[in-house]
Amino acid sequence: MCGIVGYAGRRQALPILLDGLRRLEYRGYDSAGVAVLNNGTVEVRRAAGRLENLVERLAQDPIPGGQVGIGHTRWATHGRPSDVNAHPHCDCSGQFAVVHNGIIENHAALRRRLEDTGHRFTSETDTEVIAHLLEAEYDGDLAEAVRRVVAQLEGAFALVIATRREPGRIVAVRQESPLIVGLGRDENFVASDIPALLPYTRRIHVLENGEMADIRADRVTVTDWNGKPVQKAFIDVTWDADAAEKGGYPHFMLKEIHEQPQALADALRGRLDPDGARVVFEDLSLTPEDARRLRQVYFVACGTAYHASLAAALLTERLAGVPARAEIASEFRYRDPLVDEHTLVVAVSQSGETIDTLSALRAARERGARLLGIVNVVGSSIARDCGDVIYTRAGPEISVASTKAYTTQLAVAALLAVYLGRARGTLGDHQARELLAGLRDLPELARETLDQAGELRPVGEALAQARDLYYLGRGLDWVTGMEGQLKIKEIAYIHAEAYPAGELKHGPLALIEDGSPVVVVSTQPDLHRKTASNVQEVKARGARVIAVVREDLDDLGAEVDHLIRIPRVHPFLTPVLAVMPLQLLAYYAAAARGADIDKPRNLAKSVTVE
Ligand code: G6P
Repeated sequence: MCGIVGYAGRRQALPILLDGLRRLEYRGYDSAGVAVLNNGTVEVRRAAGRLENLVERLAQDPIPGGQVGIGHTRWATHGRPSDVNAHPHCDCSGQFAVVHNGIIENHAALRRRLEDTGHRFTSETDTEVIAHLLEAEYDGDLAEAVRRVVAQLEGAFALVIATRREPGRIVAVRQESPLIVGLGRDENFVASDIPALLPYTRRIHVLENGEMADIRADRVTVTDWNGKPVQKAFIDVTWDADAAEKGGYPHFMLKEIHEQPQALADALRGRLDPDGARVVFEDLSLTPEDARRLRQVYFVACGTAYHASLAAALLTERLAGVPARAEIASEFRYRDPLVDEHTLVVAVSQSGETIDTLSALRAARERGARLLGIVNVVGSSIARDCGDVIYTRAGPEISVASTKAYTTQLAVAALLAVYLGRARGTLGDHQARELLAGLRDLPELARETLDQAGELRPVGEALAQARDLYYLGRGLDWVTGMEGQLKIKEIAYIHAEAYPAGELKHGPLALIEDGSPVVVVSTQPDLHRKTASNVQEVKARGARVIAVVREDLDDLGAEVDHLIRIPRVHPFLTPVLAVMPLQLLAYYAAAARGADIDKPRNLAKSVTVE
């Protein structure tokens, strides 16, 4: 998830590009750059870090002027954040400048082909292949060249391209990643999202997959990739700047909950190979041979990432046939863990900066363990320390309470378990195919799950009055309960606890009284009947039960007060969907209490102290 902006008009492009980038920084902020067409040259300036670094660079090395340009604020997926990996990217001759949001899945093959024909690359990004392909394909018409280039790309992309060969024009294309065109008087714009354009125009076209916009000061032409004109309707945007940044949602948390289908699609992109019934991790140095030598796996993490680790350990043990467990990072490092060179220690972290997780990793390294990161922020400390890393590609998460980072961690954990299971020969072809099919369906099923958001609102609002809440489930459903209780604690400040449902009778049942709200998660066919008995036990003591149940299972007895269905998916993947209603219940409870949802009291997004 990056921010893109482009301008063609009569004003100076640079201030408009920088202003647009400032409004898009919530989409990424690890580096930024601009390219402005000026007197037959493409003037490119780029800088790692926040936008201010780019502004400083421009002060030292100004761009003389220019009325057409493109800009980018980056959230890295390929290549660590740095000056050379910042966009725009150019070809060898510096004729073309490209900004990109998305992932080019076949970039490695394209890069090899281009290098064989003499192209020299300067960055580690997937994007740079596009600039070189343009150089190879250009024949006097930018739109034609872009058409020939996109035909060779696999993956997701929003691209905006400028060339000094045609200085009055920029071309934009969209496949999966968002892009809008803004229409002004004697000036036109393109951007990833509405906030960038609000000060300039409120008339927009939303580009659809497979569409291309040819943008000049006095006109915009939209076509498909074959050049066939497309008639586009205008939308008049009525949002204010704050609402636009949150995509029209009142809080980043709700926006990020609804971004989960897209985040899951990004996390899985290019990693499923159904033909070979295997998982593909580009750049992973842990070979199948290494995987076979493992004798145990630890997942270490904090907070929400610890809950993802609990699921990861269960899946790894089941699918890869190796003892696996999750540990709270701050506990792990101080208890002299028994790890050695046959141990894989996987650090799970959204930010990649959590000091407890980082320290646990260092303790594991000292003992000779093999390290792996499941991390969202590219180039973060944990990613660098691990060396080997699988990125979750959730995009920036702004709300302190984690949502899309969690579900992408779960998806990546499932991928890793399949990868290890295939490598170790413990996961058969048929079961691997079933899991890969389930993973492929997740983004769409996530969308279906979130369609119930409206119905969940009154249920969440009713929870706002609760003093204590209990979450029950078995196995992976207990993990979902753990994450559900953390969410409602974090943002609604309601005391909540999750228990393995079988433990109920060993203590917590004493706390259940008339009207006690109990959230039950039951998505595992083999455990459903057992959980149903626990529902009876709490109902008999007067509990008010909200149940999250996989749609093909029975409804746990008629006494359930509110039944929430999630779509049918492989039992090992249900945690990804089952947590979504719990995120929403917490959100609506917090909203009803008037809490500061995106910035809960006493909490921080990234904790870099012990
Ligand atoms: C903080 C955040 C949590 C997060 C945890 C671990 O407590 O508020 O949302 O789960 O840190 O952070 P990490 O960045 O390592 O996933």
